[in-house]
Amino acid sequence: MAIKNLDETTFKQILKENLTPAQAISSPEHLKGRAQNLRQIDRAFNSAGKHIFIYGDRGVGKTSLAQTAAFLHQSADAEPILLTCGAAPFLTTVRDAVRQALPLGGRIKQKKTEHRVKASVGGFGYDWAANISNGDVPPIETVNDAIQLLKYVGEAHSAEPVIIFDEFDQMVDNEQRKCCAEVIKQVSDQNLNVRFIFCGIGNSLENLIGVHLSTGRYLSPIHLERLTHDARWEIINAAANALGVKVSHGHLVRIGQISDGFPSYIHLIGEQLFWSMFDDEDLVDVCTQKHFESGVSQAVAEAETTLKMIYDNAVQKYLDDYEEVLWAVADHQLLRRQTTDIYEKSYLRIMAERYPRQPLVKHNFSLRLNALKSARHGQIIVGTGAGWYEFRENIVRGYVRLRAEKEGVQLGVEGYA
Ligand SMILES: Nc1ncnc2c1ncn2[C@@H]1O[C@H](COP(=O)(O)OP(=O)(O)OP(=O)(O)O)[C@@H](O)[C@H]1O
Ligand SMILES: [Mg+2]
Repeated sequence: MAIKNLDETTFKQILKENLTPAQAISSPEHLKGRAQNLRQIDRAFNSAGKHIFIYGDRGVGKTSLAQTAAFLHQSADAEPILLTCGAAPFLTTVRDAVRQALPLGGRIKQKKTEHRVKASVGGFGYDWAANISNGDVPPIETVNDAIQLLKYVGEAHSAEPVIIFDEFDQMVDNEQRKCCAEVIKQVSDQNLNVRFIFCGIGNSLENLIGVHLSTGRYLSPIHLERLTHDARWEIINAAANALGVKVSHGHLVRIGQISDGFPSYIHLIGEQLFWSMFDDEDLVDVCTQKHFESGVSQAVAEAETTLKMIYDNAVQKYLDDYEEVLWAVADHQLLRRQTTDIYEKSYLRIMAERYPRQPLVKHNFSLRLNALKSARHGQIIVGTGAGWYEFRENIVRGYVRLRAEKEGVQLGVEGYA
């Protein structure tokens, strides 16, 4: 036992409650830095016929915001309904939502079912309404079918049902996206008692769902940004306080910088750092440089396999000088940078720390940068205008920073980058 007053069971319990590198959050207590977004959702839901669309980078925290908001707005008589979009037609996903909302032997009240049977005219008619009470949801073929069923969900599921349609970006077919837009429009126009929260990876709502709907009155768009520095530190501090230990401001800043505002890295480094403290032979209550370094090393080992693959595929080539070039791209707080800036402000500094390794001359550096854009290197970076570069996926920057940190090179140190 190396942290005062904590046996392993208690330690693990506290760690698990506070740090969730592989799980989305669903309670406001653990959702850091999103108060403003929760307020926006609250106000949008207070307006009849409004639904939410959360979009932004992969891993920025979209599902966590959606789930937390859903639990806040779903009435207490049931749980929110959570769906993942995929290659399947949107109406099939709606059918899954209805199924989830009305589970077999579930909470549908018989009298409501009877009421619907009598009230139901046209559409699915008698058979549908009778069957659905047994959890047997008919296939949905048209938007009107979907609306009828969602109306039913609005009456039978709970007082205020919230449905999350996550990973909207996975539904790539344009027709399906249009169909979704039509469902949203009908649900709003007919004033159905259901609230939707959509999430999708993307930097433009127009690209995700089309100009018509994205600019219309049905959706309240939330472009989710990376976490602020305060919020990054709060994640570690909340866990540290619960464990009764201290992490210095310097280490908090460093963890925040490495993460680049992507919360999973903060959870990951925090988790490993606290384990390192727990494993210490001495009784400790302050995180030392040794714990921090061990936390970073272990975080690299425990990071998502897909990130490792992206990184290794980019740098493990016949020539061994790609890694530092990639580090240089991830060095600055600006997402998009020009060759000269990357070379002079970052690369040469990094190489000075790598002595006796020798820096590339600028021409060769530019060639490497260009190569990193190619398929052979997994297109880890993309060119955005003559001589401008950025990561294809911003979440990768944090992983690059983590790898460099493990090798003793600090990236993203200027300001609170
Ligand atoms: N506001 C937050 N405060 C603390 N931790 C957060 C916050 N938002 C997300 N996280 C954590 O960050 C990680 C990623 O969150 P989440 O799964 O919500 O992101 P996402 O944008 O939905 O990712 P993806 O694009 O892969 O679907 C999770 O480990 C989650 O616990
Ligand atoms: Mg998600």
